[in-house]
Amino acid sequence: MNELSVIDVTDQRPTIEEWGHRIERLLDGESNAAIFNLRADDDREFDAIFLGGGASGRFGSAYMRAMGGRQLIIDQWPFLGGSCPHNACVPHHLFSDCAAELMLQRTFGGSLWFPPMDGVITSIKEVVDLFRRGRIGPHAIMNYQSKEQLDLEYILNVPGRIIDAHTVEAAGRTFRARNLILCLGARPQILDVPGKDLKGVYTNVNLVETLDYEPSATVVVVGGSKTAVEYGSFFSATGRRTIMAVRSECLKIVPDGEIRGYVRDRMEEQGLEIWERSQVVRIEDDGEGRVAGVIIRTPKGEERVETNFVFVALGEIPNSEMAADVLGVEIGPKNEVIVDSQLRTSVPNVYAVGDLIGGPMEMFKARKSGMYAARNAMGATIHYEPKDFPDFLHTHYEVSWLGLGEEEARAKYSNIVIIKMPPNNPNGLDVALPASDRTMLYAFAKPHMSGYQKLIIDGDTRRVLGAHHVGYGAKDAFQYLNVLVKQGLTIDQLGEMDELFLNPTHFIQLSRLRAGRQDLVDL
Ligand SMILES: Cc1cc2nc3c(=O)[nH]c(=O)nc-3n(C[C@H](O)[C@H](O)[C@H](O)COP(=O)(O)OP(=O)(O)OC[C@H]3O[C@@H](n4cnc5c(N)ncnc54)[C@H](O)[C@@H]3O)c2cc1C
Ligand SMILES: NC(=O)c1ccc[n+]([C@@H]2O[C@H](COP(=O)([O-])OP(=O)(O)OC[C@H]3O[C@@H](n4cnc5c(N)ncnc54)[C@H](OP(=O)(O)O)[C@@H]3O)[C@@H](O)[C@H]2O)c1
Repeated sequence: MNELSVIDVTDQRPTIEEWGHRIERLLDGESNAAIFNLRADDDREFDAIFLGGGASGRFGSAYMRAMGGRQLIIDQWPFLGGSCPHNACVPHHLFSDCAAELMLQRTFGGSLWFPPMDGVITSIKEVVDLFRRGRIGPHAIMNYQSKEQLDLEYILNVPGRIIDAHTVEAAGRTFRARNLILCLGARPQILDVPGKDLKGVYTNVNLVETLDYEPSATVVVVGGSKTAVEYGSFFSATGRRTIMAVRSECLKIVPDGEIRGYVRDRMEEQGLEIWERSQVVRIEDDGEGRVAGVIIRTPKGEERVETNFVFVALGEIPNSEMAADVLGVEIGPKNEVIVDSQLRTSVPNVYAVGDLIGGPMEMFKARKSGMYAARNAMGATIHYEPKDFPDFLHTHYEVSWLGLGEEEARAKYSNIVIIKMPPNNPNGLDVALPASDRTMLYAFAKPHMSGYQKLIIDGDTRRVLGAHHVGYGAKDAFQYLNVLVKQGLTIDQLGEMDELFLNPTHFIQLSRLRAGRQDLVDL
């Protein structure tokens, strides 16, 4: 293989299908040729090199190009779009979809038309294989769209090496730009215990690349935040005993205590074992380099769990080393590149965006920070700091939230009013609401599993302070609801809206039930 061989697509117009075949072959290691897509008709200096073509680099580039600027993306993978469609969000959403389907089957197994599921363990590997084959489609679309529709210039399948604040080397050539925008992403934090390198220890990255066997009937997940809960919920839904080793508390990220409790209760009811204040201290070798078991230190002492599969989800570490070593950009305690509100690093003309600048490591921030850095690099003075955004995770449910949880709201305001469904019920939780699309079977046959929703209102100003939802289908609403809440949405305005009955967020109709009162009270 020739290190510097090049596939020049500049004057070609590969279809999405052709891109798919090409990406597949390059990912399979058929060649390590760099893909060049550089405009021959444009000899202007680049306004920016985006080092990394994930969400942040691609969206920043698209914005710069749309503004009339000239950009260049350099990415080491043979496709644009980065980790989200390759090993992060998209597999998580496939697995979470499967978890929801499987839990429906398991909850109703043996009744209605559902086959019995007792003792049935379904394949994890089949779903991972399905993802690995299917991810090529989105990759191909992004290469196609970026070239044919967004008119972006890019070099793929080759790492870029920073030379200085204006220069990057790739495939043996150097490229210069007025600005350098670092979009290098992050990588999973490793579990630093004996046995961490055994076959059978996975993160979200190597799971989808290398899983080549069916995990045992018991699996261990390490961590207690979004990734751990999302993957753990999927493994549990396949029928495996799933133990989550959580060093502190699980789901700390969910801001409302009642919602967190509901989510946890349902996870445990559906079989997940959450071992809090528990640390993995060692992973055992079966003598052939594979995982045989895990030793977990729990509050009750050390426990051995027999398994051939450990999933590690300890958060992400920004890939800041090259920028720190070569450019000397300032780095924070979590390895993140420090930027100001214009996304500028400590080095002039060098910006950093996306996961590289630390939390929140979410797609909206990656895309928006890329866009804002592009605007600043093009001469604007524009500020971006991610705060007051809606958030979510999956268990077997979608869990969405925005604004304050009840505890924080009560600490900040003296007249908090809560509107929720199901209502507080002296006879327990077994009530048939909230009912909505995708939860109707639960609502009628297993009412306590139909979800939970809660609106938090300042009774004095009548403004909505927080909204929280467990169920299906409300996530979409939250990205719009968040804008309204930031604009000062009141219970009266909510009560004026026209709801589509039956919808998953009951906030409009519940608000209407109370909005006529001057002195708001809980519902
Ligand atoms: C398991 C998991 C699930 C997630 N699910 C969600 C979700 O549901 N919703 C959500 O909003 N967010 C989710 N996220 C977060 C989301 O994936 C990230 O915030 C987002 O992908 C970050 O984009 P980025 O551009 O900063 O980084 P990336 O997309 O990681 O891009 C970095 C790019 O840099 C390239 N690169 C690195 N080094 C070099 C080099 N030397 N030369 C050239 N190229 C280089 C890489 O190839 C890569 O393409 C999830 C994360 C994880 C881990
Ligand atoms: N939107 C989504 O659905 C989604 C999905 C997945 C990931 N993401 C994003 O991707 C990023 C990574 O997510 P994540 O869930 O992996 O990470 P995270 O939110 O940073 O949580 C890390 C978890 O690992 C634990 N932990 C950290 N170091 C540990 C150690 N040495 N030993 C034991 N436990 C340790 C933490 O415990 P403590 O709480 O005790 O610190 C926490 O439970 C986040 O920014 C997240 O927002 C988003």
